[in-house]
Amino acid sequence: MPRTLFVTTALPYANGSFHIGHIMEYIQADIWVRTMRMAGHTVHFVGADDAHGAPIMLKAESEGISPQALVNRYASERPQYLNGFHIKFDHWHSTDTPENIELSQGIYKALKAEGLISTRTVEQFYDPVKGMFLPDRYVKGECPKCGAADQYGDSCEVCGAVYTPTELVNPYSTITRATPVMRSSEHYFFNLSDERCVKFLQEWTTGANAQGQKHLQSEILGKTREWLGTGEADAQANLADWDISRDAPYFGIEIPDAPGKYFYVWLDAPIGYLASLKAYCAEQGIDFDALLDPNGTTEQVHFIGKDIVYFHALFWPAMLKFAGRKTPDLLHVHGFITVSGEKMSKSRGTGISPLRYLEIGMNAEWLRYYIAAKLNARVEDLDFNPDDFIARVNSDLVGKYVNIASRAANFISKHFNGELAYTGDTQALKDEINSVTEAVQSDLEAREYGRAIRQVMAYADRINQAFDTAQPWVMAKGIADASAEQ
Ligand code: MSP
Ligand code: ZN
Repeated sequence: MPRTLFVTTALPYANGSFHIGHIMEYIQADIWVRTMRMAGHTVHFVGADDAHGAPIMLKAESEGISPQALVNRYASERPQYLNGFHIKFDHWHSTDTPENIELSQGIYKALKAEGLISTRTVEQFYDPVKGMFLPDRYVKGECPKCGAADQYGDSCEVCGAVYTPTELVNPYSTITRATPVMRSSEHYFFNLSDERCVKFLQEWTTGANAQGQKHLQSEILGKTREWLGTGEADAQANLADWDISRDAPYFGIEIPDAPGKYFYVWLDAPIGYLASLKAYCAEQGIDFDALLDPNGTTEQVHFIGKDIVYFHALFWPAMLKFAGRKTPDLLHVHGFITVSGEKMSKSRGTGISPLRYLEIGMNAEWLRYYIAAKLNARVEDLDFNPDDFIARVNSDLVGKYVNIASRAANFISKHFNGELAYTGDTQALKDEINSVTEAVQSDLEAREYGRAIRQVMAYADRINQAFDTAQPWVMAKGIADASAEQ
């Protein structure tokens, strides 16, 4: 039965270039999308830039340009990376678009009509020089435990203490160095602790889709159980309402009927999945609403990293559900890519630059192969090790897989006029190939990439052995001798 799928990857923040972690996520999703298409399914695969939020606004300001100009600069370099690594989205959009404004405001209004939006006064650090409320990461000060200087507002990098920004000694704004003051303002909340939300999330997180696949991997389910509580009685214990508003100045989408208030970037970011699909549908003449009919059969699949599970396994399904929309069918969470066992860090100069990789003439398929060979369906980190990479490409890809084509092509063109014939049982051969194909296909669909690759390589081994056993060089020599005699 042909299926219809709507597949996304996380929307990258638009204040930086792609790094190898992004590329890994896209390669993983791209392989899956190709697999599903080869199996005869229809797939709509979209991405977008996550344009909003304070960091983008402040970075643009420091460069003396508009946030839109900053976003456009990064957007314009995206194709180089995507094309370079053979990653083929059907559409790439942005969250700073009319589609996303309309969808975000619409979803908000629907949640409000459901009685799931409330307001509350929140006290927060305010930079009196800059005239804005400070997100936690823009406040630094001395650690309240050990006194170390220049520590962030959530935890101390020196002694490991965890605290709130207000506990910092001699706090300062990292934007202006001014001493922040406490100020209160009205914030809007999505009432996630509402018993309807909790009940729905307990069902959704433990549920399965129409294909019988669980919505969540078991490791992720373990996490959501912690957040949701395991039984009805303590269900609300760990689930807090979600603060979805930010005060001006903010680069974001205005909250309807709330002057000076904007949606927190994480409210409109996942809605960007829908905005991208909607723009694509308009382009292609596809009925967007029918495609995402809550009672329809389209499967909605999100590929994301392990750091953004909270947003995708709790906020996002609940927002969609109570706005009367289709909920996700599958969340696929991957671990992080490390380089030679180290976390990527720009400041420490680790990591590999995707563009540099291409510039020095490395083949995109090598990286795609290596990443696939190391991926599985679990939430495990994956290490890019240069020596291992070279060894695997040489031994598997070149030594086994490409070897089949190169040695066979050589014989066929040299001795057999470039013509191929098979003298064995053709049906048996077809059956064998079909069964390998099916096995590889089903592993890939289950996101067991490494297992799929191992099957492919085992088959390559088998073909190489068959080649050796058949000794075509003997046959070729026989032909050569025969023709010499004539
Ligand atoms: N903008 C948010 C996502 C919004 S989705 C509605 C965001 N952006 S991000 O640019 O920081 O990350 C984008 C994706 O890249 C996330 O899925 C994240 O987990 C992934 N990765 C970031 N670093 C990574 C690695 N080192 N390895 C693999 N994936 C990583 O979060
Ligand atoms: Zn400390």
